[in-house]
Amino acid sequence: MQYKENSAFSYQAGELFVEDVPVKEIAAIVGTPVLIYSKTFFKQQYSAFTSAFAAISPRVFYASKANFNTAVIRTFVEAGSGVDVNSAGELYRALQAGAKPRNIVFAGVGKTDAEITYGLEQEVFLFKSESREEVAAINRLAHDAGKTANVALRVNPDVDPKTHPYISTSLANNKFGISFDEAKGILTCGEFSNIRFTGLDMHLGSQITTTAPYIEAVKKLAVLLFELREAGVHLTHLDLGGGFGVSYQPGEPEFDFSELPGQLAEILLPLNVTVFFEPGRFLTANGGILLTKVLYTKANGNKKFAIVDAGMTDLMRPVLYNAYHHIQPVSCQSGAEFEYDIVGPVCESSDFFAKSRLLPELGKDTLLAVCSTGAYTDVMGSNYNARLRPPEILVEGSNFKTIRRREKLEDLLRLEV
Ligand SMILES: Cc1ncc(COP(=O)(O)O)c(C=O)c1O
Repeated sequence: MQYKENSAFSYQAGELFVEDVPVKEIAAIVGTPVLIYSKTFFKQQYSAFTSAFAAISPRVFYASKANFNTAVIRTFVEAGSGVDVNSAGELYRALQAGAKPRNIVFAGVGKTDAEITYGLEQEVFLFKSESREEVAAINRLAHDAGKTANVALRVNPDVDPKTHPYISTSLANNKFGISFDEAKGILTCGEFSNIRFTGLDMHLGSQITTTAPYIEAVKKLAVLLFELREAGVHLTHLDLGGGFGVSYQPGEPEFDFSELPGQLAEILLPLNVTVFFEPGRFLTANGGILLTKVLYTKANGNKKFAIVDAGMTDLMRPVLYNAYHHIQPVSCQSGAEFEYDIVGPVCESSDFFAKSRLLPELGKDTLLAVCSTGAYTDVMGSNYNARLRPPEILVEGSNFKTIRRREKLEDLLRLEV
């Protein structure tokens, strides 16, 4: 089998290490299942991203929906990033992580009055809004609070990002964004006296692997920006969202940044606007593994199953998107390989991580690393079947610390009265 490695997760003498720490050592101390992250990897990805776009000096807002543990958000804040939040809860987390309100953008397709009020009280840098009715709500609540709110409109560029339909957000019939005509109407109607409109926003989708959809969409936004200027509306930023794809298979390339920055610079520099990005997956996905242990193996008919101690409650991307996550033993094994379904203990047929995956022979207590689980993993976790959420561990060099402890049985009842 092929083993997936990167700058943070590598095999040394046949054993998987995260930075300078043997993964086995973490399992021995905190048990399994456990999510393990590399802080150095997160910092390297942030710096690779900002360096790639140096030609357009963008402002970067880490999309905290990808991984909202406060220690992870703090890593990006300390590296100089702003934070993109999608709910009052993510705003609370970003503030607790030390993000300054002036570096927080508050997105979301439907914010409640309470969430908007919280954002106004905290004086976030801006709200991104994607419906006229929500713009009106922000205006009303800002008026009541005696404030003027910065608002960017999320438009829908009607571009196919060619990714999984569930993570594609920029086709005209998706729920996201508003049409260009609707945006023009909102920006020119003069009805929203407690709003300062600052920019346009787009987000094409996630796990995008090619430059073309970005360029197609940005060209459309540039035309809209010109038309708005002619109509007397002067916006100061364009937010191009996130979506940059990463490798899930060994050897699969990451998003190739060799062309996009130059092509964007050509279109955007003449517009004299600040460019924003909101990457999530690119910064975090390959900086994490879900470490799990084989509980039992069995065969039903011709099929071999390995039942592991992590489940869809810890990682639901395989069932939600049919997503591929590479799975590999923590100790390299040679010898014969067999096709296994890697399944969890949850009482659902959809509780699987992999189907018919070729792996060396697995047995009780074999430790497996489920790769690329630094993004959209724990944030989508649940307590279904009253399962306990795993701990999260952050490694830097030869040090590691628990950034969230394992849940205990009594935690399950803490909200019940
Ligand atoms: C508005 C918005 N911005 C940014 C992101 C981050 O996307 P990614 O993690 O693919 O970079 C998302 C993800 O869904 C999003 O909805």
